[in-house]
Amino acid sequence: MISRHDPQLKSFASDNYAGVHPEILSAIADANGGHQIAYGDDVYTEALREVFQRHFGERAQAWPVFNGTAANVVSLRAMTAHWEAVICPETAHIHTDEGGAPEVVGGIKLLTVPTPDGKLTPELIDRQAWGFGDVHRPQPRVVSISNTTELGTLYTPEQIAAVCAHAHDRGLLVHLDGSRLTNAAAALDVPMRALTTDAGVDVLSFGGTKIGMLYGEAVVVLNPEAATGVDYLRKTFMQLSSKMRFVSAQFEALLSGDLWLRNARQANAMGRRLAAAVRDIPGVELPRPVEANAVFAVLPREVTERLQKRFRFYTWNEATGEVRWMCAFDTTEADVDAFAAAIWEEMR
Ligand SMILES: Cc1ncc(COP(=O)(O)O)c(C=O)c1O
Repeated sequence: MISRHDPQLKSFASDNYAGVHPEILSAIADANGGHQIAYGDDVYTEALREVFQRHFGERAQAWPVFNGTAANVVSLRAMTAHWEAVICPETAHIHTDEGGAPEVVGGIKLLTVPTPDGKLTPELIDRQAWGFGDVHRPQPRVVSISNTTELGTLYTPEQIAAVCAHAHDRGLLVHLDGSRLTNAAAALDVPMRALTTDAGVDVLSFGGTKIGMLYGEAVVVLNPEAATGVDYLRKTFMQLSSKMRFVSAQFEALLSGDLWLRNARQANAMGRRLAAAVRDIPGVELPRPVEANAVFAVLPREVTERLQKRFRFYTWNEATGEVRWMCAFDTTEADVDAFAAAIWEEMR
């Protein structure tokens, strides 16, 4: 079959615009042929147990699902009773970008907190961690944070440990939306468990798609006492893949060697390169620290409109004109340089 698109064309809209890493595609091909038991009782899914435990510790148990929204909904539902609620930043993906799935599909009440940088702190958690025992108030039960955050910022291991210690002191569990956990770990040059298991996170939504998989994320239960019924909930929420071997084989290819790290380092390096190339353009402002693969910028609206005709990217905030430029594992130096040159040109 011929390609219906230009395979050389790159954008800065989302790491989800990227294709599939060749090593992942070849793992899918290797898993093909013959028959394997369906619904997760295959040898690839069996092998995954050890792969996730190597990254996240002996107690970790991973449950592949189709996408990140589902990983969040299944995780949070498994951590809460019907009367309980989840504290998260106002900017959290679960609040702003999942079509209300946590509430509509999961039946989960979110208690949001405004933050300056997309990150919760012990003090910010306390804005919503109250009313315990009051039957009129949704009962806070989980604190949900993302690393990296929707604003491209990072939590360090110490910051996550502080969030977890505080949450646990208040009788709350901690969920981490790790749609871009690989980017966070690569940026900080720490193992992924330093940002999760070792910091006290109870349940993780682990992201594979943005970092090179065709599709697939995982609910990773790090503290078995923090979640119940994930195996049943995965089916209830329509996330039990019949041909699971093909999701599991992708995770194995991503995580058994250093593919996740190579991909994350590349995406992050391109984020840094882009920021460095445009930072000094008069009239372009970078209002947020560039800590991984996302660059946020404010530039004149007419320039944004002209640039968007040449490269795809999203306006993040219509009110302020802030845009988001996202680098992916397959963004190259040449892609970044061409985009930066276009920004210089349009700003002249
Ligand atoms: C932080 C974060 N969490 C979750 C998701 C959801 O992933 P999906 O689009 O696969 O449902 C995304 C996707 O952009 C994300 O950025």
